[in-house]
Amino acid sequence: MAATNPAANDGGKVDRILETVTRLERSVQAMGKAQKSPGGTVDVIVGAQWGDEGKGKLVDIMSADYEICARVAGGSNAGHTIVVNGKKYKFHLVPSGILNPHAHCVVGNGVVVHLRGLLQEIGELKAAGVDYQGRLFLSDRAHIVFDFHQTIDGLNEKQLAGNKLGTTHKGIGPAYSSKTMRNGLRIGDLRDMEFFEQRLRGLVAQLERSYPGFKIDVEKELAYYRSIREEILSMTIDTISYTNAALKQGKRVLIEGANATMIDLDFGTFPYVTSSNPTVGSVCTGLGVPPTVVGSICGIVKAYCTRVGEGPFPTELEDATGERLRASGGEFGTTTGRPRRCGWIDIPQLRYAAMINGFSEINLTKLDVLTGFHEVKIGKRYLLKGEEVTGMPSSLREYAQVVMEYEVMPGWTEDISKVKRFEDLPANCQAYVLRLEELIGVPIRWIGVGPGRQDLIERK
Ligand code: IMP
Repeated sequence: MAATNPAANDGGKVDRILETVTRLERSVQAMGKAQKSPGGTVDVIVGAQWGDEGKGKLVDIMSADYEICARVAGGSNAGHTIVVNGKKYKFHLVPSGILNPHAHCVVGNGVVVHLRGLLQEIGELKAAGVDYQGRLFLSDRAHIVFDFHQTIDGLNEKQLAGNKLGTTHKGIGPAYSSKTMRNGLRIGDLRDMEFFEQRLRGLVAQLERSYPGFKIDVEKELAYYRSIREEILSMTIDTISYTNAALKQGKRVLIEGANATMIDLDFGTFPYVTSSNPTVGSVCTGLGVPPTVVGSICGIVKAYCTRVGEGPFPTELEDATGERLRASGGEFGTTTGRPRRCGWIDIPQLRYAAMINGFSEINLTKLDVLTGFHEVKIGKRYLLKGEEVTGMPSSLREYAQVVMEYEVMPGWTEDISKVKRFEDLPANCQAYVLRLEELIGVPIRWIGVGPGRQDLIERK
């Protein structure tokens, strides 16, 4: 309570003002305390484009410094390949931090999990000598992707025919639909098989009603889930309490972003998007941690641009240059093997991604793929009927009509794959990176110059 001011003859006005000031001071102090998390932090890696930016490598390098690596959204539609000592590891659901023997890995509540696929992935890791026992935890709240969700994914695409979305057929959309319809099943439901059976019968009945002629063998499904129940439950925990307790102890958490900003259900090129939010918001909703614990947010940006599936792509190159990018960059899907559509880097799209995610830094990947091009182009501005478009059009029809204005820069021919310091890159290559940094407005901290773990430049 503020002291009374005896000199004032104002009916208590000054006192009330002083009281208000004291109250405001206190709430600002409290906010300061709330903003500064006393424990560990959650650092985030997010795909900035349409996916396949090469998130895996930075995750692999960074995970060595983290006690916990987590996935928070998406499912087995994601995929990254990590090369360690010439050996390739393919990941779809398991956080790739599992390769760091000291890290614990969490599959958060926001992920949809195809348990059959997960067991297969674990089996492959085991065969490759990766010991995951006691280090991999599944959220009891994460929803299950059933085989029939995958079948329905295919049926939906077939029905859409010429308007198909080009999904990965991994059952992602149908599984998230069951979640939002509130008749999906969660991994924790396996703890009570009577309840599981009741829920499964309900879900199957609803889907069979929605897809006339589609039959699901419930008994076979139940038998399968009874057979894997014990193994799955041995990894299933309350990941919310676990992660928050770890943060309180000062442990550090790394979020392995899956999918990417432009295929975000809300912010991407809807409807040509996935069914989750691969952007930064899922750190809170897909793991159950408060925003106050979020530390650095690193955007992964490929030095050019690719997209799989359908939908507009303003810088797409449907010519020999695009073919060359695909061949040099090995642009074929990890999950589906599909050839990726290729094009030049898109600055308005990257500014949009930086705005939504609040990138504190960028990892520019696959810069070596541009080596040997006589010139490199930067898509700088979107024009619609000759006018500059500010922001990202929400209308897909408008977006499909934007014309890109390019800035052309001279290329480089020197091999950069063994370069360790930014200063040692060819001058034209440095100029390209610096121009991207200037246009995006976020520091480019890491630069990938080759596929191996060691082929990375860190700018201090
Ligand atoms: P879904 O996630 O399988 O439903 O597919 C929806 C759209 O997102 C399709 O265009 C997919 O190709 C695309 N997509 C999903 N996951 C990824 C990814 O990890 N990288 C790139 N594209 C993806």
